[in-house]
Amino acid sequence: MSRKFILSVAALLIVLGGCKDAPPAPALESPFGKESGVIGDSAMVVASRPEAAEAGLSILRKGGNAVDAAVAVHFSLAVTFPYAGNLGGGGFAVYRQADGSAYTLDFREKAPLGASRDMYLDESGEVIPDLSLKGVLAVGVPGSVDGIFRLHERFGKLPWAELLQPAIEQAEQGHLVTEHQAFWLNKRQEDFIELNPAGPYLVQEGGWQIGDTIFQKDLAQTLRMIRDKGRAGFYEGPVAAQLLDEMKRQNGLITQADLDQYEAQWRQPVTTEYKDLRLIAMGPPSSGGVVLAQMLEMVEDYPIADWGFQDRRTVHLMAEAERRAFADRAEFLGDPDFYEVPIKALLAENYTRSRMADFDSSRATPSDNIGHGEPLAESTETTHYSIIDLEGNAISITTTLNSGFGSGVWVQGAGFLLNNEMDDFSAKPGAPNQAGLVGNEANAIAPGKRMLSSMTPTIVEKDGQLFMVVGTPGGSTIITSVFQMILNIRDFGMTMRESVDQPRFHHQWLPDAIQLEKTTFPDSLRQQLEDMGHQLIVREHPIGRVNAILIRPDGTYEGAGDRRRDDVARGF
Ligand code: DON
Repeated sequence: MSRKFILSVAALLIVLGGCKDAPPAPALESPFGKESGVIGDSAMVVASRPEAAEAGLSILRKGGNAVDAAVAVHFSLAVTFPYAGNLGGGGFAVYRQADGSAYTLDFREKAPLGASRDMYLDESGEVIPDLSLKGVLAVGVPGSVDGIFRLHERFGKLPWAELLQPAIEQAEQGHLVTEHQAFWLNKRQEDFIELNPAGPYLVQEGGWQIGDTIFQKDLAQTLRMIRDKGRAGFYEGPVAAQLLDEMKRQNGLITQADLDQYEAQWRQPVTTEYKDLRLIAMGPPSSGGVVLAQMLEMVEDYPIADWGFQDRRTVHLMAEAERRAFADRAEFLGDPDFYEVPIKALLAENYTRSRMADFDSSRATPSDNIGHGEPLAESTETTHYSIIDLEGNAISITTTLNSGFGSGVWVQGAGFLLNNEMDDFSAKPGAPNQAGLVGNEANAIAPGKRMLSSMTPTIVEKDGQLFMVVGTPGGSTIITSVFQMILNIRDFGMTMRESVDQPRFHHQWLPDAIQLEKTTFPDSLRQQLEDMGHQLIVREHPIGRVNAILIRPDGTYEGAGDRRRDDVARGF
């Protein structure tokens, strides 16, 4: 397939879709007005719904630790943010205890045992549109309940049952529909009807309005099963039976064997140093940590603080680093249980610097001239929450159903949505997925394999102390959004509020273009970048929704929820 074809298909996908046509990004206030986010002395939770942030905070007030609060936030988001909060999806957690010890947990979905490499191709070997995105064949084996359960089993302090109570009450008593939620729910009403032959869920005659209340009795019952039986409340018994019924009704692939064999994995954190910072991030099957570390290493030697924020030299350099790191992502990154990912080689300083050898400070390097590198052999909708507890333990969790509302398939009677994470595999070498990402052998489909992710939950230390807890949704733009957050804080001296508010941009090698948010990129900067040979794509929808915490010099916490949607910080 020609690069040009990939470029045009991927560009179209990005403009029309990806996380699909959201309301336009709001005009954001005050670059550099030194506006701060929510300040707390003791604890902070930043999440995509106020109910979830408050549930987490209530657990912290009762003496729970960051993991306990994460359990409450996760299940609350499954109720109040069905767009991405989930029981039927998966994610990644980065946990740093106050003593500096760090752990990363992979609860990414897996391909069902009945999946096969070419399952999304037709007889002539072409990708069948939407098959990996909508309906039961798009569904990976869910990892969220197992992951959150294991996280709590190892590190939680308060009883599991207590932590699920806020979510159960929110499902029973209902939650209010916001403007954003009404927009997104209404977008998928037809899918919910079409994809759920046994009866649609979350469908409202005449569409959802701001201020409507959503009650979820079935989901409350499922949550009670999980409260009372833990992991087994989801992967065995009546909830599992309902999930398998859904699969049978719609000829899906997931069986009891898939549910039995699902196990979240503790992985080795990916760590990297950037100036006086040390990052703790997620390794494969997320590409987040490796790609982020590569980009930071590629830009570290350049004087971007002197050049300034949104200077053409800064944006050009960052875009060129992103282009090169994403070319490596497409070739080398996949599930480490199936494919030997050369992490050390990809992060070797001489390798990342060598990738910038052909960097031209005055011209864009066409992606046609950039393949993946040759690292020395070693002896591809979401929500993010960040929490710091009273003891200084910090947790950074990104979790998803992939697209907003995932595959659109509900488990009838159990009240939860199933993911469409299978689209994160490479259905065919070089064929772009919904995010326009391409891949190869490393991320080909295989039974029981985890699909490559871009989720980048990250914790940053400075001088050995906790400094930032950060992450975001946004598909492929997750990694570049976290990259910008780190440079905004470290090199441009922003508060967390300012850093989250700034307009974002993104390059992912293919398509060969810098993608820009609609907001406040000065015309002069756009012109300068075009003069350097960059193609620009202005996105209809915002890039990322960062929920992050910064530890300020006086030791207080600054939490900032992204104002692009309903995200909030709550602290005390
Ligand atoms: O794991 C990944 O990289 C994607 N499934 C994340 C999807 C996402 O962030 C969509 N949201 N905007």
